[in-house]
Amino acid sequence: MKALIASGGRGTRLRPITHTQNKHLIPIANKPILYYAIEAAVDAGIKEIGIVHNADSREVPDYVGDGSKWGAKISYILQETPGGLAQVIQLAEGFVGKESFVFYLGDNMVVGGLKRFVEDFQRQQCNCLLTLAKVKDPERFGVPEIQGGMIVGVEEKPNAPKSQYAVAGIYIYDSHIFEAVKNLKPSSRGELEISDAHQYLIDKGYKVGYTEITGWWKDTGKPVDLLEANRLVLDNATARNDGEVDQLSDVAGKVVIEAGAKVINSKVRGPAIIGKGAVIENSYIGPFTSIGDRTHVKNSEVEYSIILRDCRIVSVGIRIEGSILGNDVEIVEANGKPRVHRFMIGDQSRIEIA
Ligand code: G1P
Repeated sequence: MKALIASGGRGTRLRPITHTQNKHLIPIANKPILYYAIEAAVDAGIKEIGIVHNADSREVPDYVGDGSKWGAKISYILQETPGGLAQVIQLAEGFVGKESFVFYLGDNMVVGGLKRFVEDFQRQQCNCLLTLAKVKDPERFGVPEIQGGMIVGVEEKPNAPKSQYAVAGIYIYDSHIFEAVKNLKPSSRGELEISDAHQYLIDKGYKVGYTEITGWWKDTGKPVDLLEANRLVLDNATARNDGEVDQLSDVAGKVVIEAGAKVINSKVRGPAIIGKGAVIENSYIGPFTSIGDRTHVKNSEVEYSIILRDCRIVSVGIRIEGSILGNDVEIVEANGKPRVHRFMIGDQSRIEIA
């Protein structure tokens, strides 16, 4: 079995971060989202991975490399213009060949890995296995209609969802999917929809099975989803201290302190991660916070936030919460009143707080 991972698209809902960074490389608990997909494939015993990426940027291949750091072989497939997920599959036919494969949307995160899905696919002997997750807002996703334990239809972002399930971005196919994606017409939003490919398989009598994701699953398309994925990953982390914590500091709960990081006269309440070479000084880092490599937090409080690398947060008079800061962002002291701030700031921004 092979794995095909989608890392294209423009990530418009995550601007401004995605002006300068591919959304699949945004870190969750200080690790790029895309790495979780690669690791899940490798953990399921899959060594041949194809990654589809935007043709106008080498960011993903340059960052991820040839797969040797995971003992895998990664091939890259170019997508000239975003044309939908079914188009991504079309592009990968040469890479996949006749084998079955996992199709993994690189911005999806799931706890518990892929092995059980691969086993379900084999046990059910189906042509396509969909993974389903119960959600509050199915209208944002592909939605299955289920009758008598069978999927009888799939609709993309329906106004009136026929179930409470989202089709998650982890699919397993045999080579019949290539017949499906070659027979589609663009949808009203001009894309070849993955849900239409699933409907094609159903209509042609191919076996479309499913499995329910009972743990958590996240499509990290929006800022709140990133924060929530960060919370969930940190919650499952194991405490570790490879850095330095001075006598005046108090580190409690699941906290990962990476090599070269320093915690000085500060309180860190986990789950949290402090990146390599980061400095936390006279500050408070609260639960569900990721502090990127070399970021400096001084005389400030940060909680439930994702702070990327090389940021400076200095003497901010009010707790930073529910925020995402890009690379090289500075938030520094200005004359301020104590009110809550909520940020979504792109790379190299500088904010002065009044
Ligand atoms: C895509 C698919 C949708 C699926 C979702 C899962 O939607 O089109 O069927 O449920 O991924 O993450 P998009 O994230 O492109 O809106």
